[in-house]
Amino acid sequence: MSAKTILVTGANGEIGHGLIDYLSEYGGFQIIAMDLVPIDEAVKSKCHRLVTGDILDPHLLETLSTEHNFDTIYHLAALLSTRAERQPTLAHRVNVDGTLNLLEIAITQSRLQGKRIKFIYPSSIAVYGLPDLETKKKAGKIKENQYLSPRTMYGINKLYSEQLGTYYANYYRQLDAHPLNGQIDFRGIRFPGLISAATLPKGGTSDFAPEMLHMSAKNKNYECFVREDTRIPFMAMPDAITALLKLQAAPAEKLTHAVYNISAFNPSALEFSKILKEAFNSADIKFISDYRRQAIIDSWPEDVDDTAARSDWSWEPKYSLDKAFSEYLIPTVRKKYS
Ligand code: SER
Repeated sequence: MSAKTILVTGANGEIGHGLIDYLSEYGGFQIIAMDLVPIDEAVKSKCHRLVTGDILDPHLLETLSTEHNFDTIYHLAALLSTRAERQPTLAHRVNVDGTLNLLEIAITQSRLQGKRIKFIYPSSIAVYGLPDLETKKKAGKIKENQYLSPRTMYGINKLYSEQLGTYYANYYRQLDAHPLNGQIDFRGIRFPGLISAATLPKGGTSDFAPEMLHMSAKNKNYECFVREDTRIPFMAMPDAITALLKLQAAPAEKLTHAVYNISAFNPSALEFSKILKEAFNSADIKFISDYRRQAIIDSWPEDVDDTAARSDWSWEPKYSLDKAFSEYLIPTVRKKYS
């Protein structure tokens, strides 16, 4: 069987690295990796083609589309929540217009190839907006259709892009005599904060947890920008990658949602710091809350209900909190910085 061609945008990001590692190890895929800046050395050799360019450049995307037959598009490129607050119009362009350009390319590809193109989209817990801490505490695990009032540019962009994807999959050009409905198989995951032992995120607000981990492992002081009692869901990066691949592989008829919550663990920032202080004796972690970033995190849920992902495509995290730290995060960062 010939290799499936997969376009990965935002290939240099944390999810991009993990996904490309996994796809190349698994085999059977031709990876076209795209990013705004040259593709990192770490993943270069695992890709069939490297594209340095902007998802806001439709001509570049059209050229790529004439040169390859994409089976699946992983559209990972985005500006995360803290950066998006600092550059809201740029964030809107990248996160929304960029997604629209990729959806158009998926439509073009489906016409050229006469088949459905899979479009895998990482969304975020940032699509939720809890009005205050009391509501957040009471709400507990929230479902996909609850509290959809994001208070960040990033959250708004992600929620709207989910809806764009659903529109392209179900209602695109619905007034045409022969509408193209069903040509895009749009599937999304609302990720919690992600923690990788290999890379650090850039410009997110859930970054306090991965930053705390990497700084502790490097024996550096860390000033955590949220309060000790701050609680949002997190997940180890390998589980995030497995989830994307599982959702991609799931039979379409099993899927009851276009976009799914997934969850693994949700310790408070203080609980995180305790685990790290135990693992790295010299870890010096102080909590100095930045009220602006804190307000963003306070509007995100304490946890999410991932029942639908569990029943529709057998989602199950491999890493619980204990296992994530003892078997993946701590041993890997120790090695990285030793
Ligand atoms: N990690 C993202 C951020 O902090 C949320 O999904 O922006």
